Amino acid sequence: MPKDAKIYINQNLADEAAIRFNVPTLTSKTFTYLHTVLEQGHLAGGGQFTVACESRLRELTGSLKAQLVHSCTGALEMAAILCDLGPGDEVIMPSFTFVSTANAVVLRGAVPVFVDVDPQTLNLAPQAVAEAVTERTKAIFAVHYAGVPAEMAPLAEIARAHGLILVEDAAQALGSKYHGRPCGSLGDIATFSFHETKNVTSGEGGALTINRPDLVERADIIRDKGTNRAGYLEGAVDKYTWVDIGSSYSPSELTAAMLLAQLEHIDEINADRLSSLELYRNGFFDLVQAGRVDLLTSPDHCCGNGHLFCLLLRDAQDQKRFIAHMRGHGIETPFHYVPLHSAPAGRLYGRCSGSLAVTDSTSSRLVRLPLYFGMGLEIDRVIGTAREYLTDYVSIQCGVRSIHCATEKPA
Ligand SMILES: Cc1ncc(COP(=O)(O)O)c(C=O)c1O
Repeated sequence: MPKDAKIYINQNLADEAAIRFNVPTLTSKTFTYLHTVLEQGHLAGGGQFTVACESRLRELTGSLKAQLVHSCTGALEMAAILCDLGPGDEVIMPSFTFVSTANAVVLRGAVPVFVDVDPQTLNLAPQAVAEAVTERTKAIFAVHYAGVPAEMAPLAEIARAHGLILVEDAAQALGSKYHGRPCGSLGDIATFSFHETKNVTSGEGGALTINRPDLVERADIIRDKGTNRAGYLEGAVDKYTWVDIGSSYSPSELTAAMLLAQLEHIDEINADRLSSLELYRNGFFDLVQAGRVDLLTSPDHCCGNGHLFCLLLRDAQDQKRFIAHMRGHGIETPFHYVPLHSAPAGRLYGRCSGSLAVTDSTSSRLVRLPLYFGMGLEIDRVIGTAREYLTDYVSIQCGVRSIHCATEKPA
């Protein structure tokens, strides 16, 4: 348990016996800020905490504008409207992503075009994106998987060459950098999540960041039910009215207050998660060398935020056995994603471009290990329990239990 008085884990959640794959971080400021909102009585969005969060998010992402919204799903829907997507349009995206990336496109009547990912990072493979471009392509939605930035330079080059809008689905990537530039500043639009599984959380929550001046005013209108209320509040119009399509995307001040309490500690939170990630990498190093498991890599020019750690096992059966072994020891190790191109709605609404071999093989091999702020000694238990399965399995495969195929259990 961390000694830091400013950040602590909810003790009820971090129960001794079981290790959950995620424990949301709370800071002591959360209660103070929530109390302030309740006392002041301004509960709807747009108050002092929303303004403070948006200002901090602008700083963190180096973007032109940051808007707080109720979820990354909502931010992606707003991005799809800002891209002016409609029937007949196509958007290139990974199949290896959360459903919200594709849903936002389908809700506009456009078609998600699923392409494969790079096996080292599980981020969009730029060559596959280049080959998927048609005269109907309007945008590229690039996901920064595990908080490690996608290869944005070649993607931006493809977007520029074909006049496409580049959207970062940065749900997992607040605080990550690509060639020193923060996620959120790398595309035309970016979306972030503050769901309880993310590094900083308000339970549910999200943000939209924008780098194109021509999209800023419309983003305010879309967030505010399609009205020009923002212009009215600034005194630009004397009454506000319905001017465009939109919906209700603002979070309440309670959500903003909770988020601010976390954003003020994002550097500590991300640093702690990155050091856990390093412990995991070291803990499985010999098994990687021996070819028992694979790990994802983060290229030198990418600086992640320690969002997620996963192991790539041999096959679906290995994945199933690993999860059962860990569950038997009270440790949650979920897998994801069911590739969107193979999901019922993906087959109905989307199409594939090229081979999706990496995507197909990855989702049946991947397991996520617990990772949250202040894991402390729990990480040793996770590594030890995982190694018990991984080394034992290697021995059995060799057929002679005394020969350990260069993957001896650690002393
Ligand atoms: C890549 C990606 N996009 C979008 C989302 C949706 O985020 P939210 O739960 O904030 O709507 C997630 C959530 O995990 C995600 O991982």
